Amino acid sequence: MLKIGVMASGGGSNFKAIIERIGEGDLEAQCKFLITNNGTCGAVSHAGEYGIPVYHISGKTHPERADYEAALLEVLDRYDVDLLILAGYMKALPPCMIARMPDRILNIHPSLLPKFGGKGFWGIHVHEAVLAAHEKESGPTVHLVSEEIDKGRILAQVKVPVLEGDTPEVLAARVLEQEHNLYWKTIRDYAATLGLS
Ligand code: GRF
Repeated sequence: MLKIGVMASGGGSNFKAIIERIGEGDLEAQCKFLITNNGTCGAVSHAGEYGIPVYHISGKTHPERADYEAALLEVLDRYDVDLLILAGYMKALPPCMIARMPDRILNIHPSLLPKFGGKGFWGIHVHEAVLAAHEKESGPTVHLVSEEIDKGRILAQVKVPVLEGDTPEVLAARVLEQEHNLYWKTIRDYAATLGLS
């Protein structure tokens, strides 16, 4: 069975959507852990509901960089997951983690990469920029994680229309709804291409 670990920092709606699909049997996988850099975020509550172990690892819990990196790698080693899923993880991964799991770390970004990705393009700022550029469409991208932020190989995208009168919040909600459909399917399909399922 496919083994995944998740990293999240925020509300955790993508994390929740994935573990619900696992619970429903649509995604044949086990979620082994949640790593977060924010011990009070929504994702931590979702993990509690599903009995998923939580590891709070951040600059606060591990002020020394070497300890911080060692703590992250220790979780990866302990569970030996097939894929690491970033679901709203708001911090760049240390290169040692990317090196430990080459082509095995996925991220979801709320724009049609390569547009509106990279430094400064996070959260509501992405949708503000899409509207400021008068784009006709937007939508989420699932991609592999490489050292360059938002530049790894694109695995899947879904387009949604940008509508007249959209605010960044309204557009964000339309994109997020599609994220929840897209992420678990992309995990399933990518795992299959790697012979993991
Ligand atoms: C999503 O918009 C995702 O694209 C981005 O961070 C947000 C996470 O939302 N990487 P949630 O915490 O899953 O609700």
